[in-house]
Amino acid sequence: MHPVPFRKVIKMKRLLFGLAVIGLLGAAAPKPTPDPAVGKAAYESNCARCHGPTGAGDGLDAKRMSPMPRKLSEGVFKFRTTGSGTPPTDEDLFRTISTGLAGSRMPDFQRLPEEIRWQLVYYVKSLSTAFNDQKPEPVNLGTDPGPKKATVERGKELYGQLGCAACHGTAGRGDGPSAPTLVDNWGRPIRPADLTHGSAYRGGSSVKDIVARMMTGIDGTPMPSYADALSSPEDAWALATYIRSIQEKPNFQRVIEGVKGPAPLPSGPDDPAWGAAPATTLRLSSNLYREGEIQPTSVAGISVQALYNEKEILFRLAWNDPNESRESPPDAAALALIPDRRLKPKIGSLRSWPATPEAPALDLSLWQAIQAPAYEAVLKDFAQAAGAPEGGAVLESKASYAEGQWILLIKRPLAPAIPGGAALSPSRPTLIGVAVWNGGNGEQGRRRANSNWVDLVLK
Ligand code: HEC
Ligand code: HEC
Repeated sequence: MHPVPFRKVIKMKRLLFGLAVIGLLGAAAPKPTPDPAVGKAAYESNCARCHGPTGAGDGLDAKRMSPMPRKLSEGVFKFRTTGSGTPPTDEDLFRTISTGLAGSRMPDFQRLPEEIRWQLVYYVKSLSTAFNDQKPEPVNLGTDPGPKKATVERGKELYGQLGCAACHGTAGRGDGPSAPTLVDNWGRPIRPADLTHGSAYRGGSSVKDIVARMMTGIDGTPMPSYADALSSPEDAWALATYIRSIQEKPNFQRVIEGVKGPAPLPSGPDDPAWGAAPATTLRLSSNLYREGEIQPTSVAGISVQALYNEKEILFRLAWNDPNESRESPPDAAALALIPDRRLKPKIGSLRSWPATPEAPALDLSLWQAIQAPAYEAVLKDFAQAAGAPEGGAVLESKASYAEGQWILLIKRPLAPAIPGGAALSPSRPTLIGVAVWNGGNGEQGRRRANSNWVDLVLK
């Protein structure tokens, strides 16, 4: 036996000390040993309604979802740290079950104890033969070379060179020329992610998560692995650093703050006066799911600003829409004001309005991407909004579409121009909601996306 050299002893001591510190800080508990009965029971009560009793993706709720609940028995997994076409690690599955998959119906199971989540990992593996003969190995993601080497400029260059824009669009908003043609392994249309919406990444939005996507691809979808195309780990990190840099920082608020603007309100979306108006981000959700529905809305959020003067208020709306639709059905947007706050309980959510034929009317400022003016009208249903409705008042508006984004300016008077309209005043807040239609999103029920009600306050 060789004596252990002195320097090594010190190193080992450091190592042991390090491990002890990690232990004290509460490192992840060791994985429990598999207990198939526990896994099965947890699966049946939490997963089977979507993934089906045997993991065939045929649960009772599965049909109406897009993307579909995975056929776990097939063994195809999207979000892995393992090579393209190979099964995920236990940790990958644990992450999916713990955090869920944003932008899909796969919920997070944070509420289940870790022990149970591990049993679910083992149970999911038992549903497919993909895990039988392979021991999943994570690919080497390298280490973050730091901001000096992994520069945003280099990453942007690679984004162009590697052809990411063909699917994700030049600005990353999911509007590339190939986007409308993409289909997943299960024959369903699939959209390239809007890379500017960090919160919608299913596999995590950190630089390291994105490196993992680059190096392993997203199996079952047209998104390939770039492990061979990226010539060095530094390049992978630079590209991911660039992608991270285009993620927008949403400002979710329950209030839209209108700010006093210059005497003539700005005539364009880039006027410096907009710098003074805080931008509120509103989440949009699609109308309720219906049987056979394939694609949920593709417009997930909208940024709203407002400037006003003595007589008028000008809104600036910006939202991402992967396709510009000016034909029938066109892209469209509506600002909905509740004429009297006391009506809110009768109206309910904008998502379900009008829930009954008796639901109160709303004051709508409506714009459509067609050669016709925007207008304000007090209506009992969005269905009455096609064409210019009787009794409506024409509004000034200006809209532009570029790189997957609409920017709309729409102006209305503070005092209602039509009977039954909402009166806006600095002395009290008004309830406002926003609806957006994506004309390119298939049949009627899927096109509209709605915000919650928030307060419009004139400062
Ligand atoms: C309400 C429906 C629903 C429930 C309940 C649900 N899932 Fe899912 N699950 C989905 C959908 C939809 C997807 C597909 C998402 C996608 O393709 O991006 C998915 C995908 C997955 C994936 C694939 C991940 C990957 O990397 O491709 C796994 C694993 C998974 N679910 C496990 C579970 C487990 C385990 C449970 C129960 C603890 C569960 N799911 C409960 C809807 C559901
Ligand atoms: C052939 C089309 C295509 C190309 C080319 C492509 N992607 Fe994708 N990408 C997709 C699709 C489709 C998805 C969505 C997958 C899904 O929803 O399951 C996606 C998703 C993503 C995601 C989100 C992953 C998550 O966690 O949700 C990132 C990040 C991404 N792509 C980055 C890139 C980068 C960077 C490139 C270029 C190196 C690239 N993609 C090239 C089609 C493509």
